[in-house]
Amino acid sequence: MPASVVKEIPPDELVSNSERETFDIGVRIGNQLSGGDIILLNGRLGAGKTILVKGIAHALGIDEQEVTSPSFTLVNPHRGRLLLYHIDLYRLDEGASAAHAVDLDEIMTDENAVVTIEWAERLGRYPLPASCWQISIAGDGDSPRRISISPL
Ligand SMILES: Nc1ncnc2c1ncn2[C@@H]1O[C@H](COP(=O)(O)OP(=O)(O)O)[C@@H](O)[C@H]1O
Ligand SMILES: [Mg+2]
Repeated sequence: MPASVVKEIPPDELVSNSERETFDIGVRIGNQLSGGDIILLNGRLGAGKTILVKGIAHALGIDEQEVTSPSFTLVNPHRGRLLLYHIDLYRLDEGASAAHAVDLDEIMTDENAVVTIEWAERLGRYPLPASCWQISIAGDGDSPRRISISPL
């Protein structure tokens, strides 16, 4: 993510009180992406990771309805102003290597792409580039979400 995102979004915690607010945070992030961006998303099931990716997709000119939680695939490419890779490692088998399951080396070095990774903690020991951003979403159900955005 370019440094501009840090300028626009305070590095401290944001609070989202609704799905819409989380989506809008995604839009604000997406509007500032220029390619070569890697965004790691952490947070439990139902935290709002996919909603945030939908916001990013919307900002990239992609129909956000195309962005879903895939049942079988670990990676979905979406073509917009930039190519958005939506990776969701939730269904990665325990002990399996994410890099083998998905062609991470190629995806991560695509300068014309935006890479979003749900359940990024399941990347294990995959060597991440220093330019990654980490977004953690705390809270689920009807409670407000606390969203923190920081460099890796
Ligand atoms: N503040 C909020 N931000 C995001 N989602 C919220 C919020 N409040 C309630 N929700 C609901 O939580 C769910 C989040 O789902 P989803 O984005 O698929 O989660 P995840 O991808 O983290 O498993 C949605 O059903 C959404 O309507
Ligand atoms: Mg999800």
